[in-house]
Amino acid sequence: MRQTLTFRILTKLGFRLSPVTYGGRGFIGLAGSALRIWRNEILQAMAARSVLLAPLNSRVIRPFLHKCRGVDLGENVFIGQDVIIDGVYPHKVHIGNGTRVLNRVQIIAHNRDLGSYKQGDKVFELGYLVKDTYIEEDVSLMIGSIILPGVRIGKGAIVAAGAVVTKDVPPYTLVAGVPARITQVF
Ligand SMILES: CC(C)(COP(=O)(O)OP(=O)(O)OC[C@H]1O[C@@H](n2cnc3c(N)ncnc32)[C@H](O)[C@@H]1OP(=O)(O)O)[C@@H](O)C(=O)NCCC(=O)NCCS
Repeated sequence: MRQTLTFRILTKLGFRLSPVTYGGRGFIGLAGSALRIWRNEILQAMAARSVLLAPLNSRVIRPFLHKCRGVDLGENVFIGQDVIIDGVYPHKVHIGNGTRVLNRVQIIAHNRDLGSYKQGDKVFELGYLVKDTYIEEDVSLMIGSIILPGVRIGKGAIVAAGAVVTKDVPPYTLVAGVPARITQVF
């Protein structure tokens, strides 16, 4: 793909951006992306670390801040401390009503596209594979679990602390481990 002048200048200055994702964008496109990611990160940091009005944080303030970032968030969602919801594509994360996202959970909606990766390639030059990630209603994501891009977690499921979810999780099951496997069906 032809690379824009702005992209080539940024590359010369040492910015390591993916040519697949950003190479075709001009000054306005790249500046817009940078500002959007910056705004997302500020809101994310406020949501993750805010200790003001402690009783309201997890039920009101953090959900509100993530909605401002573009996360598709239902009603009565609980969000704990240090939760990270995709920094680049927050609008690709969908969280249903009544779900609980406990401390240090990470929900991701993009991967590097490893489809064409081979010896000699640089991972940072690969494009992104962006996938909608769905956490349905009344799910519990326990402390420190990681939900990878494109996964759908069914209603009422429980993801154990520290699990890494790489595949869809059926409703009302408990999954645990790395990668997460079903350990109980309710
Ligand atoms: C490493 C990674 C990119 C591989 O993705 P992928 O090529 O799509 O891999 P797949 O989902 O096809 O998984 C292949 C196997 O590895 C397992 N696996 C994938 N990621 C795993 C992880 N983090 N931990 C343990 N097992 C993992 C899968 O369960 C699958 O196992 P199986 O063959 O027994 O079913 C991805 O899993 C990952 O860790 N992504 C991180 C997301 C991220 O950081 N995004 C920001 C990017 S800038």
